[in-house]
Amino acid sequence: MRVIIKQDYDECAQWAANYVVYKINRFRPTAEKPFVLGLPTGSSPIGMYKELIRLYQAGKVSFENVVTFNMDEYIGLPPAHHESYHFFMHETFFKHINIKPQNINILNGMTTDYEKECNNYEAKIKSYGKINLFIGGVGTDGHIAFNEPGSSLTSRTRVKTLTMETIRSNARFFNNDIDLVPKTALTVGVGTITDAEEVMIIATGNTKAEALKHGIEGSISHMWPISILQMHQHAFIVCDDAATASLRPETIKYFKEIEQRTHG
Ligand code: GLP
Repeated sequence: MRVIIKQDYDECAQWAANYVVYKINRFRPTAEKPFVLGLPTGSSPIGMYKELIRLYQAGKVSFENVVTFNMDEYIGLPPAHHESYHFFMHETFFKHINIKPQNINILNGMTTDYEKECNNYEAKIKSYGKINLFIGGVGTDGHIAFNEPGSSLTSRTRVKTLTMETIRSNARFFNNDIDLVPKTALTVGVGTITDAEEVMIIATGNTKAEALKHGIEGSISHMWPISILQMHQHAFIVCDDAATASLRPETIKYFKEIEQRTHG
């Protein structure tokens, strides 16, 4: 695993956006062979999306032949709801770039047939071969997408019941009213994420410190789904100093030195 430690949120956002641009451009996507990107919502990736929009406007990247799959969506929120992930993605990113609407994939939280929706999503991902780069955030309890602690580490796209910690944490987006936060979601599985060629997790702020400690220094455990990154050949975490607060000083020094020597 690579751990890239930056000073703050903005530096992480810039690094992540530049990496995405580098990967897309190096791939030279075409309509027949598009670059497939897995995308997250939440506050962690907002800075990266802003920077990607800036780089797109500056002519550094095109999303014409990029296909996206979002990680998750709340059950019961229509796409026009301000806190639905459909709305978030459209407002934060998609409406500002040249992605083709038919290349955007987001789970439909309004479906009446969850199983069919989830199976179709998996099948559609497979129809492209694999996701080239899956980007994610991490919850304070170590969840990735909506794979809460206790999720099978080989899980596929399905319905998940959210933990109280996640509901409380996400209440900040719903006027701090826990009752307004949906209690279930559709989410790609841990296995869906780790099937990707590369996985990049963005983690900033000290509320993520415990999750990073368990993910980087702990054992692989379904109680900290982020720890599955240890089993991936090309997984990395882009984090700020604050998010490393619970790591041992030697761990921080190790990853900083390795980055400096190999990518500095
Ligand atoms: C939600 C999302 C996750 C996201 C997490 C962290 O629960 N389903 O995909 O990683 O929140 O969000 P934030 O980036 O706002 O801390």
